[in-house]
Amino acid sequence: MAGLRCPLLGALLIIIVGVVRCSPKCFPGDQALGKCGESTSEKGTCADNTLGYCDDLPYSKAIFPNLLDHRSRGDVEFSAEYILLSVLDNLLQGECNPDLRLVGCSILAPKCEKNKIVKPCRRVCQALKKSCLPAFEAIDMAWPYFLDCDRFFVGEEEGCHDPLEKLRVNVEITSEDLAPQTPYTLIHFTHHNYNQMVSILKKTAAKCSNIAKTYSIGRSFEGKDLFVIEFSNNPGQHDLLEPEVRYVANMHGNEVVGRELLIYLAQYLCSEYLLGNTRIQTLINTTRIHLLPSMNPDGYERASEEGAGYNGWTNGRMTAQNIDLNRNFPDLTSEVHKIMKVRSARVDHMPIPESYWWGKVAPETKAVMKWMRNVPFVLSGSLHGGELVVTYPYDFSKHPLEEKMFSPTPDDKVFKMLSKTYVASHPKMSDQSTERCGGNFINRGSIINGAEWYSFSGGMPDFSYLHTNCFELTLELGCEKFPTEDELYPAWQDNKESLLSLIEMVHRGIKGVVKDEHGNPIKNARISVKGIRHDITTGEDGDYWRLLIPGVYVITAEAFGYSKVSKKITLPARMMKAGRVDFVLNRVEIKTRKYDKLIPEDIYDRYDPLDSYDPHAQAGQREQGEGDEQSQDREKPWWWSYFSMLGNNKPSWLLKNN
Ligand SMILES: *[C@@H]1O[C@H](CO)[C@@H](O)[C@H](O)[C@H]1NC(C)=O
Ligand SMILES: [Zn+2]
Repeated sequence: MAGLRCPLLGALLIIIVGVVRCSPKCFPGDQALGKCGESTSEKGTCADNTLGYCDDLPYSKAIFPNLLDHRSRGDVEFSAEYILLSVLDNLLQGECNPDLRLVGCSILAPKCEKNKIVKPCRRVCQALKKSCLPAFEAIDMAWPYFLDCDRFFVGEEEGCHDPLEKLRVNVEITSEDLAPQTPYTLIHFTHHNYNQMVSILKKTAAKCSNIAKTYSIGRSFEGKDLFVIEFSNNPGQHDLLEPEVRYVANMHGNEVVGRELLIYLAQYLCSEYLLGNTRIQTLINTTRIHLLPSMNPDGYERASEEGAGYNGWTNGRMTAQNIDLNRNFPDLTSEVHKIMKVRSARVDHMPIPESYWWGKVAPETKAVMKWMRNVPFVLSGSLHGGELVVTYPYDFSKHPLEEKMFSPTPDDKVFKMLSKTYVASHPKMSDQSTERCGGNFINRGSIINGAEWYSFSGGMPDFSYLHTNCFELTLELGCEKFPTEDELYPAWQDNKESLLSLIEMVHRGIKGVVKDEHGNPIKNARISVKGIRHDITTGEDGDYWRLLIPGVYVITAEAFGYSKVSKKITLPARMMKAGRVDFVLNRVEIKTRKYDKLIPEDIYDRYDPLDSYDPHAQAGQREQGEGDEQSQDREKPWWWSYFSMLGNNKPSWLLKNN
């Protein structure tokens, strides 16, 4: 999909060609609808669709003139409509991509059958408009006229087609899948492509509908849903004091063992629960578990083209946009290394620097960041491949030249305990004697601080720890990134117990609720532990979880406008359940605003592109320009400059109130 996708080139050419061709007398598209006297008399013929931005439509033959009366491929390429489709992904910051482009393409390069136009379905247009209109509102752009669901789209009875069919995954759930008498699931220890993966997740959720649910956290660049399956006794909602855990796999598209393990784990949790396995029932009854088997489904596709067993080291690692997702998160760690020298500094809930949004943020990264913010995760594992070792934050070195160097977090002891738990149940990681990959880490017990192994910034675990309440480990599951199928069952055997026991670790340390004197929950209260410069905050219902190793601690709860309360606690060595420590804080009069350690109320609202994004804070760029046209444009929205080369044919239909 490279090459042709250069909007500026297209835009340049329209000055020469476009002005001559376009007749501005009637509203674009009206001609095709016979509203402008002279109507399209010549009949079109089906031809191969060669439009660069539309080359992934689910059909290959298109027809000209199209629905907007463009007579040739050239006409389309020099049209404002086509330029809009080519830049829309940028303008909308990846939102609604690629659906919007494909639906637009179905108008610009309409499906052709027997030399006749087959129109796209109205319901597809309506659904798209519903979900994408907010993105247009956010950049103050009118809904494009050629995506008018009534004018260019038709109903099923008229034989419409679905331009998004490739993006949809159809899963048939048969009654056999739901038969209650067969809780036992035969897990197929094979590789699963995208559709197979989604199908298994949905079938599993259907079979265990009381305890499981699938949902999508967003889309990959190429439009694949990032599906999560969650397990809990109340799927779909957070329960007070119930901790939440996530596993994320395949963020490097060519590291596939974790992806398969999570697909197997989902089936295992479902069938063992139904079979009455007490341990699994207890786990699911007390924990909310989210599994994202593939964070980079586009990269997986590329990697799997090479075939399993081919140990391509890098092909498919990146996303379709060539982004390494484990370098794409905001780098908060370099700031931490600076402020740690200040004795009172605490490192938690650090804001995302504004400059981060000026760079390229992958839709996959954005989806995961939104997810991290919406769910009160406590513990996480990120599953990788290529080595056999567990690493823990920081991944970014505190060495001034970023050389490898032990760079611990204030919670180093907790991270070590979590890492050891994973290793202890893993026969290959804990085996000191075998010839195995990961030999480098044998004398370290298969655990290493990330930065001590090698330093990198923009990783997911550092971000998780420094921006949210969640502690994340990196699990490197073996030397082969894309092994052959015969190695998958052994990989499951090696990791199953470790994956379960790491989830169980979320029940260590303490948890509780912070309330005011009237019993109302206080959200965003800080829970601090004396001697550990990393605070945890309470969630919507005032609940919190604080992972800790056994020992004696002084715990303090505080919140803006409330008194501060401290408690001394002892966590015994054999702790299997989080200790319950609740707090009641009294309202106090605030005399001075000297609560700089507290989270400002607006911390999450300040940089809010994740929730209600403002893609162009940098709208000021156009200001140097002079001349008539420029001054006319001065009142126009920032994105107007994308069409500046269109001369008199600028798409005024994108302006609101016009
Ligand atoms: C888990 O919860 C279910 C539903 O409430 C209950 O039937 C089951 O006995 C519980 N299992 C365990 C081990 O607590
Ligand atoms: Zn990796």
